[in-house]
Amino acid sequence: MKLPKLTDLKIKGKRILLRLDLDVALEDGKVAEDYRLKAAIPTIDYLLEQGSGRIVVLGHRGRPGGKVVESLSLEPVAKHLEKLMRDYLGREKFKNLEMYMMENLRFDAGESLDTARDKEEMMEYAAYLAEHGDIYVNDAFGVCHRETASVVGLPKLLPHAAGKRLTEEVEHLEKVLPSIGGSASGGEFPKRPVVMIIGGGKYDKVVFVDKLFRHADTVLVGGVLPHKIKSYCRDTDGKMCIVAAHVNRSGRDITPDSARNFAEVIKTAKTIVWNGPMGDIDNNRWEGTEIVAKAVVNSKAYKIAGGGDTIHALHKLGISDKIDFISTGGGAMLEYLAYGDLPGLLALRNR
Ligand code: 3PG
Repeated sequence: MKLPKLTDLKIKGKRILLRLDLDVALEDGKVAEDYRLKAAIPTIDYLLEQGSGRIVVLGHRGRPGGKVVESLSLEPVAKHLEKLMRDYLGREKFKNLEMYMMENLRFDAGESLDTARDKEEMMEYAAYLAEHGDIYVNDAFGVCHRETASVVGLPKLLPHAAGKRLTEEVEHLEKVLPSIGGSASGGEFPKRPVVMIIGGGKYDKVVFVDKLFRHADTVLVGGVLPHKIKSYCRDTDGKMCIVAAHVNRSGRDITPDSARNFAEVIKTAKTIVWNGPMGDIDNNRWEGTEIVAKAVVNSKAYKIAGGGDTIHALHKLGISDKIDFISTGGGAMLEYLAYGDLPGLLALRNR
């Protein structure tokens, strides 16, 4: 079933609650990578064109665990979005813009089931958020895998739709889902071999490795995950494999030899899906990530990459334009490809 679209809603004069992906990389207290913020502009533009009333932007940064953590404030993100909007609209139109951003929703325990007492507390928080708007728009694909007040609670309480970016994300990712756009339904995608590369600093992604192996020919695993999995081949000729990177002593960095081996596998791919740096880029350890990133962009395969840190890495290495589609979602992209749907998308479809 299709997602409800913005065009299904009467926007004029209505106050909008707009859920965005605000979890962006910062350097020296300033936004260092604004791909996720720029991705929201077409939706904001549409809302303004339709004569919306006040827009209240909702989002989170990091995992503050239901309490205020100053370093995870959304203030620098609000400043940056303000600048983007001023540049986009021009000074005159910007003067009339009524747009606010709430502070990091995850500062409140009610936002997430990880921190709320129960679903009831989460829905109480959703009801509090709902007081600030007449319509709910979700344009935050990157968080659609999370059952939170702002993702699954608000659509139960307000008329709602998917934002433009969210709709676009789903249309692109369906192409590599064998069950939807792909080979299982007679489509031409995904072209094989499919190589998926999973890394980054979040241990919880480990659950996707086996699931994605069902759709991929090879899953290459780096970042902090290698010591959580076992390398494994399904075919006796060693073609269909999960391959754990060799890591250095810190446990966070792929070794250069292992990265070069990954690069050899990547060369054989016709479809590549990449989420998560191969090493500890937060501490400026780039070598392994760079070797793998270059192999990805030099490949002629159809290339999808996604997630905050991956976007940051592509941007830093100056190769973002060599990827066919960059998803704003990391964990969300993997979960969507693994299961074919997400709680945030289901919540939008339920009217
Ligand atoms: C992301 O950056 O992938 C999203 O913000 C989701 O973050 P989470 O894994 O902390 O829920």
